[in-house]
Amino acid sequence: MPSTKPILKLLDLIQSHRVTAVIYLAAKLGIAELLRDGPQTLDELAKATGADKDALGRLLTALSTVGICSLVGEDRYLLTELGAGLDGNAQHSFKHWAIFEGEMLCKSWNGMLESITSGKTAAEIQNVANSFDLMSRVPENISIFNAAMTDMTRLVTPDVLRAYDFGGISHLMDVGGGSGELIGAVAKKHPNIRGTVFDLPRCAEVANHHFDRLGISDRAGFRAGDFFQSIPSGADAIILKSVIHDWNDERSSIILRNCRQALPKDGTLLLVERLMPASPGVSDEDRAHVMSDLNMLRGPGGRERTEKQYHRLLTESGFRPTSLHPAGRFNVIESRVR
Ligand SMILES: C[S@@+](CC[C@H](N)C(=O)[O-])C[C@H]1O[C@@H](n2cnc3c(N)ncnc32)[C@H](O)[C@@H]1O
Repeated sequence: MPSTKPILKLLDLIQSHRVTAVIYLAAKLGIAELLRDGPQTLDELAKATGADKDALGRLLTALSTVGICSLVGEDRYLLTELGAGLDGNAQHSFKHWAIFEGEMLCKSWNGMLESITSGKTAAEIQNVANSFDLMSRVPENISIFNAAMTDMTRLVTPDVLRAYDFGGISHLMDVGGGSGELIGAVAKKHPNIRGTVFDLPRCAEVANHHFDRLGISDRAGFRAGDFFQSIPSGADAIILKSVIHDWNDERSSIILRNCRQALPKDGTLLLVERLMPASPGVSDEDRAHVMSDLNMLRGPGGRERTEKQYHRLLTESGFRPTSLHPAGRFNVIESRVR
């Protein structure tokens, strides 16, 4: 009799979208925030969330099987260390990413077959210029996306600050810098650096608010524009995090050439990106890279690239790659104007 272990493992993988769904529900209902100060009874949680008590109890049981909370005593629920990452106020939080995954990415991935068969993005299939334009058809999606990116970037930023010495830079521009999370952290650590986020106008309010909150508005600001048209000059270094992976080589090269135009002769370009392994294995990290690659295929139309592919793209766009600085699951790829 062959073992049923592999087929049951397969069934688990097939059903893993249910795990995403229950984590999304926990984030949406604010379970982590409610359990932040200690265990709560089912009654208390049902009252606070406005959920049906029996249904919520069943959800909490499901959440305890994936390690988000645990039952203590008769009917009190305790937040686990894993579950604490769904608290929007936690230092390391993926609350907004869970909402992004549950409300936007799950829907988008449902149509992955049409992208695999056609090689086109969801936006191209609907005759929309790109995923950022498609996103703006539902204005709340912009806030969900920006908040999710902020979660991810906040987690990665300490690694980036450890990996790369920004000390020699006087004015750093974060092209496609979104909510200003990365530039805010760099400017906060280096009081002599001026920072600018360059992004679509829809990110202005959240970025400016972030700089106010950090108390750095006197030397960090926002410039609105389209990086396919032109990028303002004035910075001695440009950083792009999770921007080039959004686009195919042709579109990426336009952005990089515009960066080159904006930089002085001895200017520095920093890409913060995942690096696709030459032959991905079955580790969590490799799987995350490869799934991100498919996400780029369906979403904005880009791809995750190997170090060699980044070097070629940079060289063809007028840069000379100079060094590589691993930063957690990301890397800082430094280049100079050629
Ligand atoms: C994947 S997000 C990365 C955000 C940020 N760098 C981070 O890692 O948190 C891509 C960013 O590119 C911006 N973007 C998209 N199209 C753009 C365009 N044509 N011009 C300027 N920014 C654009 C988006 O608004 C978004 O903030």
